[in-house]
Amino acid sequence: MTPITKDPPRSSDIPIKDIVEYILNLFDTQGFQEYLGEPVSQREHALQAADLARREHAPPALIAAALLHDIGHLLPADNLLAFGDDTRHEERAASWLSRSFGPDVTEPIRLHVAAKRYLCTTEIGYLNQLSSGSRHSLALQGGLLSHEDVAAFERDPHFESAIRVRRWDEEAKVPGASMPNPRTYAAILKQLLLLPNAT
Ligand SMILES: [Fe+2]
Repeated sequence: MTPITKDPPRSSDIPIKDIVEYILNLFDTQGFQEYLGEPVSQREHALQAADLARREHAPPALIAAALLHDIGHLLPADNLLAFGDDTRHEERAASWLSRSFGPDVTEPIRLHVAAKRYLCTTEIGYLNQLSSGSRHSLALQGGLLSHEDVAAFERDPHFESAIRVRRWDEEAKVPGASMPNPRTYAAILKQLLLLPNAT
């Protein structure tokens, strides 16, 4: 497969029927990048997160959200975090996916960084059990939340889903775990497309 070396086409430039294949191709061409200092690749991390969702019998939209939560890092031109910047990868992913998938998929993705900030703020011990990479990115992502932001986050209709994705995110860092191919999730992704008849 041809590595993707420039900015991805806008999702509006890709027919929705081809979006799933484009995403799976991203895992095949870009997924072997290091996951921000963790002992797994981006591809392994995504597959482990999706597998945790599947094992908890999460609904298909949440399994897709787990699989795709960090796809913002696989879209080209998103390597700034390695240089100490915060790239808002969650916004980038949710925005890019939003023409193809509904808010049950995109909102937990958009909120998964806020969910980390929330858990670090409200749950005793959560911060200390984060990996060093995750602690480092927390500072870049804005640190702890204010009381007002905690309350606003709890009112979000996708709050619970975002927290679930976040917990899978933190667990999905096991080196060498055997996982199925991303194409295992093709049917789930196609079923969630906003225009399923286009598949
Ligand atoms: Fe992640």
